[in-house]
Amino acid sequence: MDLQTILSKYPPQPQYLIEMLIDVDDATEQHYVSEDELRTIAAYVGVRDSQVYSVMSFYTMLSTTPRGKYVIQVCKDVPCYLNDDFNVLKTIQDELAIGIGDTTPDQLFSLELTACIGCCDEAPAMRVNHETYTNLSDEKVRSILESYRSGLL
Ligand code: FES
Repeated sequence: MDLQTILSKYPPQPQYLIEMLIDVDDATEQHYVSEDELRTIAAYVGVRDSQVYSVMSFYTMLSTTPRGKYVIQVCKDVPCYLNDDFNVLKTIQDELAIGIGDTTPDQLFSLELTACIGCCDEAPAMRVNHETYTNLSDEKVRSILESYRSGLL
C-alpha cells in the first residue's frame, strides 16, 4: 500500500498520527518510515516535522531507519529481566549472530530492546512485528526463530 492510499484512510488530523505511522511502517518489508514519508505525514495532519519525530522516537515499534522483515523486540523491563533464567537476548544474538540494533545480512531479522509489552505475568516476553511471545524458554526462542526462517510464521 502506498503512502497516499494510507493517508486517504484517515482524516487529516493529528490524533490519527500513530495509526498512520504504524501503517506506513508495516507497508514495506523494511519496517520503517522514511524522512520523505515523515514530512508528508506531518504536512497532511498539520504539525511540524519535529512533532512527528518525537512520536516516532517515543514508540519503539516505529523506526526511521530500514530494518529486517521481522523486527524482534526483546522486553528488558524488570519483570522480564527477573524471569529471564536463560537470557533471551543472548539466545537470539547467538542464533542470528547480530547485536542489538543490527539486521541480519539477509535482511530477515532485526534485533531491538523494548520497554514492557504488557505481558509481565507471562515473562519473559518478546515481540516479532506485531506478534507477542511469552513464557519464553531457550528452546521456544530457537523454535520461533526457525519458524520465521522457514516461512511457517
Ligand atoms: S516487563 Fe516484560 S512484558 Fe512487562
